[in-house]
Amino acid sequence: MLKEEIYIGNKKLSNRIVMPPMATSKSTPDGLITPALIEYYKQRAVAGTGLIITEHAYISDNGKASPNQVSVSKEEDIEGLKKLAEEIHRCSDTKIIVQINHAGSLAKPDSLETEIIAPSAVVHPRRKDGIIPKGMEQADIDKVIHDFVHAAKRVQKAGFDGVEIHSAHGYLLNQFYSPITNKRTDAYGGQLENRIRIHCQILDAVKKETGGDFIISIRLGGVDYMEGGSSVEDAVKASVLFEKHDADIISVTGGLRGYINPDDATPGYFRDMSVPMKQAVKIPVLLTGGINTPEEAESLLKEGCADLIGIGRAMLKDPEWSSRV
Ligand SMILES: Cc1cc2nc3c(=O)[nH]c(=O)nc-3n(C[C@H](O)[C@H](O)[C@H](O)COP(=O)(O)O)c2cc1C
Repeated sequence: MLKEEIYIGNKKLSNRIVMPPMATSKSTPDGLITPALIEYYKQRAVAGTGLIITEHAYISDNGKASPNQVSVSKEEDIEGLKKLAEEIHRCSDTKIIVQINHAGSLAKPDSLETEIIAPSAVVHPRRKDGIIPKGMEQADIDKVIHDFVHAAKRVQKAGFDGVEIHSAHGYLLNQFYSPITNKRTDAYGGQLENRIRIHCQILDAVKKETGGDFIISIRLGGVDYMEGGSSVEDAVKASVLFEKHDADIISVTGGLRGYINPDDATPGYFRDMSVPMKQAVKIPVLLTGGINTPEEAESLLKEGCADLIGIGRAMLKDPEWSSRV
């Protein structure tokens, strides 16, 4: 099954193997694409990977997570991004989409003057320096939606096949989704529908501005595995709403604790979410986490745990991974 093609809208993936986003710190200090970055993705594309989702790129200065992170925050970024998209399409059948992100209260902006924002003024559980972010006002929410849309338009202008909206691993949209970091009492807080209101607004706006033939994936950090955090039930409900708001792929991963499941380290350790999600939605579900061999990937597909399989660290170590299938 791993070798079977699959259509995402009008775009054909030649197989079910996905390289999930992994930050490399290989861009320039101001976020431009480098030859080293192009070479790194090219190696994984020519090996036959069906879909590459590039590492998270920041949509605005106050959403930057780390030094040498890729930027999609400004028009000057387009030229380098274009070289990357062109090279992957020239040398392979691989489809390539860009993960776009705002780090929220996990941001480490270049300037100390830059304000750190989050849904609520609470210290992020993973923020050791104890910084209290500014709780976002409606104008901040509107700006974040605007920045996601403009980032997606730059990605489209650069010639990529789509974008992935990052709502996982404790970053801004995950902070809205998780009851631990979202203490709002307005239309963006409380019940799940409110906590993912901004996600649905972003999906609608990106869809409207980028048109039909452009993949929109959403990466959902579905479960926090923390007391008072998000649950499998939340994750399934959210995926149903994301499908209604025109998402093309749901990529399943962890929430505030990152990409591990503290209760499970077996291959496909987020299938606690992907299995019920697959029963609830028609769009493809992408499962990543702890999958190392083609045999493991194949049996997860056969067991109906997912439609697409992400191979992260194994593909980082072995650029040729896909050619061995
Ligand atoms: C070095 C590294 C960087 C990562 N960067 C990102 C990222 O930019 N965006 C993201 O959504 N996940 C990121 N992840 C998580 C991976 O996409 C993936 O979910 C995780 O590695 C688990 O899958 P694996 O067991 O196949 O490696 C990163 C993981 C690693 C190891």
